[in-house]
Amino acid sequence: MANLKIGFIGAGRMGKHHAQILSEMKTSATLAAAADVDVESARQLSVEYGANAYRDYHEMLTQESLDAVFILTPPDIRLEPIQMACDRKIPVFCEKPPACQLDEAYQIADIFEAAGVINSVGFNYRWYKAVDRIRELLAGKTVACVQSTFMNSVALNPSQPKWTFIQEDSGGPLLEQAIHSLDIIRYLVGDIASLTALGGNPVLPKNELFTIQDSHAISLCFTSSAVGVHLHSWVVRETIVQFRVFGVNFDLTLDLVPPGSVRGTLNQENVIFKPKEDDPFVTQIAGFLQAIEQQNQSIIRSSYRDAVKTLEVTLAAIDSVATTEFSKK
Ligand SMILES: NC(=O)c1ccc[n+]([C@@H]2O[C@H](COP(=O)([O-])OP(=O)(O)OC[C@H]3O[C@@H](n4cnc5c(N)ncnc54)[C@H](O)[C@@H]3O)[C@@H](O)[C@H]2O)c1
Repeated sequence: MANLKIGFIGAGRMGKHHAQILSEMKTSATLAAAADVDVESARQLSVEYGANAYRDYHEMLTQESLDAVFILTPPDIRLEPIQMACDRKIPVFCEKPPACQLDEAYQIADIFEAAGVINSVGFNYRWYKAVDRIRELLAGKTVACVQSTFMNSVALNPSQPKWTFIQEDSGGPLLEQAIHSLDIIRYLVGDIASLTALGGNPVLPKNELFTIQDSHAISLCFTSSAVGVHLHSWVVRETIVQFRVFGVNFDLTLDLVPPGSVRGTLNQENVIFKPKEDDPFVTQIAGFLQAIEQQNQSIIRSSYRDAVKTLEVTLAAIDSVATTEFSKK
């Protein structure tokens, strides 16, 4: 494998996470540079991995000769760095969500296609072995309904970046996290035709530092006319990431708490699939590097254009919540 020089834009939590994964993977790809407005974060990666540190990504992209760029900034910073990378024909890995607004997302998808560069959006759940397995089991079958649940305690975590809790900055739990579930639901069941959504603050009331809702419910209808529900909460101590898919002869549950599993019944036989270990963040980066080396976009499981379809659904859910909002008395 050729030595691929990677540049990070954003060196916060995901910057550190991806840097660690890159360094532990047995490839010759190296973190060559990192840019962060909080230059101390970039310097930490510089000390740990020998990358050149920048405050300004424009300067990084101008001075460095990079083979790939990772966009690891908050969700409102996408268009300009992607445009700059595409102008230089540099492949881009972009963390989810692909953008905050659809007009920007469509513009970026066009930029990628015009530039013809490899692009991948960080819907890491698609890279689980358990997801591969349930897709194999569901191939050619008619899904009647899907029941999806994502629970965790993000809103109770004091070290969570503050922008996460400001609706205008993060899009709240739906854009920041339920988008993962909606993406897997699309990946398993197909495109979503219509939805309605509700949100509330049963546990944490809103204040100026917390303008999001802590719990949500979304009901879905697919283009196939299958139906589904998704429940999402950021105030539950237990972590649950589950998808239960039903049809005439099957009831399969995909569990995506690492390492992921599939269990249930298919044609009256028990199904159990539980790999000993699996890290979709690693497989996702390996797939991205392989796609660059082979110049083969089809290796990527979540192209920017496809990720925009999941964004459409997620923003529709946020709009739906806004017209049906409940608030704690
Ligand atoms: N795939 C996943 O499972 C997953 C998990 C968590 C976060 N994310 C996504 O990753 C992205 C980053 O999240 P995070 O948790 O690392 O956030 P973070 O706040 O910890 O890090 C973001 C970094 O970007 C920097 N930054 C802001 N504006 C910048 C700019 N103009 N130029 C350069 N750097 C800039 C900030 O200083 C910060 O260090 C978000 O889009 C988030 O939704 C994905």
